[in-house]
Amino acid sequence: MGNEMSDAAAAVGFDDEHLQEAAKRHLWMHFTRMGSYASHDVPVMVKGDGPWVWDSRGKRYLDGLSGLFVVNAGHGREELAEAAARQAKQLAYFPIWSYAHPNAIELSERLAGLAPGDLNRVFFTTGGGEAVESAWKIAKQYFRAQGQPGRYKVLSRNIAYHGTTLGALAITGVPGIKEQFGPLPAGSVRVANTNFYRAPYFGDDLEAFGRWAADDIEARIEMEGPDTVAAVFLEPVQNSGGCFPPPPGYFQRVREICDRYGVLLVSDEVICAFGRLGAWFGADRYHYVPDMITCAKGLTSGYSPLGAVLVSDRVMEPFVSGTSTFYHGFTFGGHPVSTAVALANLDVFEKEDLVGQANRRSAAFRQVLEGLLDLPIVGDVRGDGFFYGLELVKDKATKATFDDEESERLLRGFLSPALFDAGLVCRADDRGDPVIQLAPPLVCEQEHFDLMGQILRDVLSQAWERL
Ligand SMILES: Cc1ncc(COP(=O)(O)O)c(C=O)c1O
Repeated sequence: MGNEMSDAAAAVGFDDEHLQEAAKRHLWMHFTRMGSYASHDVPVMVKGDGPWVWDSRGKRYLDGLSGLFVVNAGHGREELAEAAARQAKQLAYFPIWSYAHPNAIELSERLAGLAPGDLNRVFFTTGGGEAVESAWKIAKQYFRAQGQPGRYKVLSRNIAYHGTTLGALAITGVPGIKEQFGPLPAGSVRVANTNFYRAPYFGDDLEAFGRWAADDIEARIEMEGPDTVAAVFLEPVQNSGGCFPPPPGYFQRVREICDRYGVLLVSDEVICAFGRLGAWFGADRYHYVPDMITCAKGLTSGYSPLGAVLVSDRVMEPFVSGTSTFYHGFTFGGHPVSTAVALANLDVFEKEDLVGQANRRSAAFRQVLEGLLDLPIVGDVRGDGFFYGLELVKDKATKATFDDEESERLLRGFLSPALFDAGLVCRADDRGDPVIQLAPPLVCEQEHFDLMGQILRDVLSQAWERL
């Protein structure tokens, strides 16, 4: 099934040999060991339709990661392409620095309507890291305006990824991707994450574990000095480390702690918003109201780049009075074409009830993935909605993980290429313990879940034999 030649892709007629040469000579791929392409070809993707993508050789793949947790509405949506073309013809570009244009206005109003609580103000960026970076700056300036300039620190969780610009990288909790770039902006501090599979305490009691993880935030605020802490950045389901959902009551307790210490709660929903968890926002899914939401990715389903910070009326208040100005922005933030695409994307979401659909189909997706727990290498299946991780282990009874050499050989050397060769785009990641991550477009249904399950079963069984 994954190997069918598509007429459409073949007919496009890419000069694959030239693309390979030029990619290897000139293109700098992100987060990529460039040296590995001395002996391997660069996968060149040329076309998408629904949950499928095709490479330059006409081979079809199931996109089990929505590109990079992005293409929530699925590939090949003509109405989104047309919305972009229409806007580019009408007014390709104008900044939102002192000006506005109808799409940015309409989209901000629409996002305010969808967002929880009183998150009624929208600061547009071009992506997720910029949104995180902006939210930290908003928090700092907010506290200066409150007469608390000493509050500049941010808390985030171990192994959590929040972006790569230096501010966002400081907030990111993945040591391996930070160490080349220090010193980073001061004041970013780690707290416990919600990896229940490897819970250091309360491993047999999820709710008690959740209380412990939330209380770690309180302990850290106390340790740092409450009057130095500006904000806590948390994803609803933590991506990096392999999809850690919040234990029941976790976010309620975090909200209480933030309120008690006057610390802002930022819900980093760059992945989790726009249906990924079967709700518009992760905050809705887990019933909390943050002070800010950072989002990007699914906002346009990737048909054009866009990110945003949604800000509560309370946090916005000092920015709308007197001569106060937020000296911060991006040339392409709130781009007319991207905001047009986002509006068309939200239309698709509403017309097809993609959020409700993801919510209804999530149990079937989970069931297929949990079916893999009979494999000796699958230690844990966790996540929510259309966002799951499979943790791989060497020994299920002890939860023993792989050493560096095994991880290198298994994940990089075998699993990633083997899954791709078998026709599945997903992610084999070892920024925490080794995991395979899946986040397919929200249009996927049973046949796609089954195909993912079948490919994973085959390839993981082979991986086990190679250990
Ligand atoms: C939770 C989270 N925050 C921030 C980012 C950074 O977003 P971007 O790559 O658009 O800068 C990501 C990217 O995956 C993310 O998952």
